[in-house]
Amino acid sequence: MKTVLVRVPASSGNLGAGFDVLGLALKLYDTLWVQRKKGRGLQVSIAGEGAQELPRNRSNLVVRTFSKILGPDWNRYAWSFEMKNQIPLKKGLGSSAAARLAAMAAANAFLKKPLSQEELLKRAALAEGHADNVVAAHRGGMCASLWSNRELRYFSIRPPSHWIAAVCLPDRTLSTPKSRAVLPKKVRLQDAVSNLMSVAGFLYGFLRRDAGWLTRGMQDRLHQPYRQKLIPGLSHVCKSAVRAGAFGSALSGAGPSVLGLCSRPKGPQVGVAMVKAFRKFQIPSRFLLLEIDREGLQVSQGRVR
Ligand code: HSE
Repeated sequence: MKTVLVRVPASSGNLGAGFDVLGLALKLYDTLWVQRKKGRGLQVSIAGEGAQELPRNRSNLVVRTFSKILGPDWNRYAWSFEMKNQIPLKKGLGSSAAARLAAMAAANAFLKKPLSQEELLKRAALAEGHADNVVAAHRGGMCASLWSNRELRYFSIRPPSHWIAAVCLPDRTLSTPKSRAVLPKKVRLQDAVSNLMSVAGFLYGFLRRDAGWLTRGMQDRLHQPYRQKLIPGLSHVCKSAVRAGAFGSALSGAGPSVLGLCSRPKGPQVGVAMVKAFRKFQIPSRFLLLEIDREGLQVSQGRVR
């Protein structure tokens, strides 16, 4: 019997201005343990996030993605999937990117001719529709990704170890398609220029480890203003995080969570400020203080008799 264990971190996409381009890996993990046995059949167990609502059959995103990558070998064996999920669903923390990556990486480990890591990432990004979460979850750290001649290129920057993320999770969910549906097809030139300025400042701040660039560097005019109607209080929450000591703050991915990037000692006060700010809009929420993951996707294989 062959087994594969995969661990994949949560991720926060966009980081404000870097819509669909920037992402940050966070120390909150989904783990997937797959066993290949003789015979036929499928067993799925799910613990933690999604245990109540996720399907335990072939329609499960992890199982579906796994079987697609595996191809004909899927029908030659019995498969057991054990999922332990820490990443909350539909909160803007990259749960679907993590599910797809975990499934693809696990299936890859069973292939006689495995896909390259580059190919795997490309497939995951195409399936997801944007690369920001999958690249961050795969590589760890703060990542930027870009398509060039149909190839996915990316780089990862390791932030200083005392930089953490305070993430405020409102007591509601928001699906990425719904959050993308409110975005305009065209944007104003001034808004595009403003975001270019932000991304330039943000990357400089990360490269130089100079947090002074991040407040402006996380300001967005391309997606957050439109998403605000789905997340009442968003701009107030972001401003409150910065007033409480965050370097910068932004909607986490497609939302509804909000991320404040800050130094470790400031984390609790940034988290509390965000919860209070949401409360003004009658939205209950809680916060997590998350370290930045530097390792990305981890895969280990074994054989059991
Ligand atoms: N960049 C994506 C978006 C992230 O903002 O829609 C979704 O997780």
